[in-house]
Amino acid sequence: MKLKTIVLPAWLAAGACMAQTDVINIDLAKHGAEVSPNLFGIFFEEINHAGDGGLYAELVQNRGFEEHVLPSSMTYSDGRAVAVDSPNYANGQNRHWTVGWNLEQKRMTGWKVEAIGCTADGTVVEADRPLHVNTPHAMQLTITNMAKGGKATLLNTGYWGMGLEQNAKYNLRMYVRSADYKGTVTVRLTDGNSGLTTDRLTLEAKKIKDWTELTGVLTSHTTTANGQLAIDFDAKGTVLVDYVSLFPQNTFKGRANGLRPDLAEMLAGLHPRFMRWPGGCIVEGATYENRVKWKETLGDPMTRRGEWDVWGYRSTWGLGYHEFLQFCEDLGMDAMFVNNAGMSCSVRNGDYTSDLEPVVQDFRDAIDYAIGNPATNAWAKRRAEAGHPAPFPLKYVEIGNENIGQVYVEHFNYIFSRLKAEYPSIIFINTLGHTDRLLSQIPGDYMVDPHWYRNPDFFFSNNHLFDEAPRTHDIYVGEYACNSGVGQGNLLAAISEAAFILGMERNSDVVKMASYAPLFENENHRDWTCNLIHFNSSQVFGRASYYVQKMSAENRATYNVAVSEPSLTQQPPFPLGTIGLSGGMQSKVEYRNIRITTADGKTLQVSPSQLKALRGEWNVDGDVLASVVPTPPADANPAGGGGMRRGMMGGGLTLLPDFSSNSYTLQLQARKAEGAGQDGLTINFALDADGRTGYTAALGSGRDGQGAAITPLAMGGRMGMPPGAQQQAQPSPFTLEAGRWYDIRLVVTPDEASLYVDGTLLATGHTQTVTRHFCLTGYDSQTGELVVKVVNGTDQPYTRTFSISGAKSVAPQGKVITLSGDQQAENSFAQPTLLAPKTTTYGQFAQQFTYKFDPMSYTVLRIKCGL
Ligand code: AHR
Repeated sequence: MKLKTIVLPAWLAAGACMAQTDVINIDLAKHGAEVSPNLFGIFFEEINHAGDGGLYAELVQNRGFEEHVLPSSMTYSDGRAVAVDSPNYANGQNRHWTVGWNLEQKRMTGWKVEAIGCTADGTVVEADRPLHVNTPHAMQLTITNMAKGGKATLLNTGYWGMGLEQNAKYNLRMYVRSADYKGTVTVRLTDGNSGLTTDRLTLEAKKIKDWTELTGVLTSHTTTANGQLAIDFDAKGTVLVDYVSLFPQNTFKGRANGLRPDLAEMLAGLHPRFMRWPGGCIVEGATYENRVKWKETLGDPMTRRGEWDVWGYRSTWGLGYHEFLQFCEDLGMDAMFVNNAGMSCSVRNGDYTSDLEPVVQDFRDAIDYAIGNPATNAWAKRRAEAGHPAPFPLKYVEIGNENIGQVYVEHFNYIFSRLKAEYPSIIFINTLGHTDRLLSQIPGDYMVDPHWYRNPDFFFSNNHLFDEAPRTHDIYVGEYACNSGVGQGNLLAAISEAAFILGMERNSDVVKMASYAPLFENENHRDWTCNLIHFNSSQVFGRASYYVQKMSAENRATYNVAVSEPSLTQQPPFPLGTIGLSGGMQSKVEYRNIRITTADGKTLQVSPSQLKALRGEWNVDGDVLASVVPTPPADANPAGGGGMRRGMMGGGLTLLPDFSSNSYTLQLQARKAEGAGQDGLTINFALDADGRTGYTAALGSGRDGQGAAITPLAMGGRMGMPPGAQQQAQPSPFTLEAGRWYDIRLVVTPDEASLYVDGTLLATGHTQTVTRHFCLTGYDSQTGELVVKVVNGTDQPYTRTFSISGAKSVAPQGKVITLSGDQQAENSFAQPTLLAPKTTTYGQFAQQFTYKFDPMSYTVLRIKCGL
């Protein structure tokens, strides 16, 4: 294990608690951490149609007619795909995991059959003598009653329309087979808006008794976002059609089977130093068999089996391992490959294998494919045969994704201990958070990978999160995004991320890499709230968060220099939110007679059935709502680790949907069951709709059922808790008696919450004091510039005087790059750059200068300084 001492420069440590000052002192002679050159990278996952129907340039959806195929190893029952029962690796329980499966709808995904002057019936069938053993399904078109001039048409509508450009060329490749069809096959590009054909190609289809490849080039004569591919048959017969591909000739860097240029250019604009692939949850799979199997992503795309992925559609794996490595080389970034650690996703089926030798071998083969010697290694030879004899820039390998607990520790130790010695050039990554106590059981030098999807308060509050992080392992913040309470990702979200990023940069001696997630969203298929880049078939825009990433990468300093703390602190009101009731981990908890009196004096009686269970099981017995005690996970980690841990969120949670206020009185009766465990009674307020952020009034949650306190909601686990939460807890002499009903009254106002039990005030609580101003300074040795980054997360301008020492000269003229606007504003297809950084020249920099920063802004000042 690498043991590093925490060396916080005195200015940094002191800065955290310095009082507000109007002058920000910068000392170029005092160096902080070198800023990791690899800090900013990208996280790619096949989610939101990021690849198929996105970055991967193929235009035909469901080209192999395999979309309806069940996830590997699952069976079909009554409209659902059903996983094989198997113990979950995190708790040993069987989760009986299933997912809804509409076979008929899935079969025809992307396709329509039309008939003019004939009868045409199109069905997706399992073909005898399939085109390829990996892809056994094909479209069977049965054409009868053909009149003169009639035609049967197979129509593909693409991924919500095909983006076609005037005069651009598209390669068609398709396969047909028929024992009796004697007509022609005409392929057309059409504009779905006008119905007009924009190019037409008639293909020879005479000897097609066996599978026959038809190819050609189509040129669109129009630009449309709603293009379609039509395949016309003009005679009767039964025709099997398979693997219909329409691929633009214009791909990023002209690569065959390549990427959509506009989306790839957006990524290039981020100047990423690494790219992570293939995810994300899909690495784990809903079941172990459903995981990404990288070997199946190689070779002729026609032979790639594809697999349903946990985001609700089938991935063709057109953008496979080779294409990913090629893209890394094309963008000059390091590749980060993530492979399954022998276990599926713990919040899905969670099944796992104990046979780890094949798992290790699969890692070896992947690494060899990327960097091995073709003369001595079969997988490296495959790479050479695919046209790339030289090694690819594979530098990082992550063992699993978001895996947790003791089984993962064993798997990681087994896999890592074997691979580390064999591949000294590779940096391995562990999925545990940076403060997870399980790390003590894993010897060796590896990185860790905490993730955070939280609200703006979390990101503002955690600018200092890494100041005291253990320096035992380098940290890769593999996934983070402000995605709660910020619409689809407004400016506030982006500015809060900027504050968090400044904290990562300041601590870049330990935070070596970071990637926002998820990367892409096809506007027609959203699986996740807040994604960095939005697109449809022909347009693309980056959200404000995209520009924060871009500004960060473009203005990364070589090393940090000392700066005094610019903080102004504020006491925000309680956010608008709903109420929630929690269940215990060990105790049954009951609630009844719930009512809310709103600020205008109206009383709302809440029946137990109005509450929505977000976590855990709940029973309603008459007017009593009772939690069901969960079965404890076999390997639960009470310390929680340093970030999100799914499935370890504590007891149950039920909340009142469609209620949002910070001014009301909640009354109820509650009790903990007789003779139960250590839990207290927990009532939540100011909760967001996901129950992820808010505040908690807890009774008897301390030792021996003691105490009453109002604190920010403690999610535990890797989501992290805002600092300062503990300080708000007020010790109280109250002791909770099991079996006794208590009258509870929670009075919530914007400024204060008060908890009364049986008429006695036991606790009051306030929101956390928050910091909304942040400054980080560094020196760019290449350009000789002092780089001053300032986040103003308030709706007021922020004026500060800067005093620079440690520089021989300060040039008056420099650059200012600012991202600012309305905090609720979002970019859109109509206004793609409403929120985008503006660069201006500023002529009044000096050893001492004053600058007024826009409300809600992230600003970079670049000042030439001689040292
Ligand atoms: O980024 C979306 C998902 O969030 C990823 O697939 C997973 O790793 C995380 O839970």
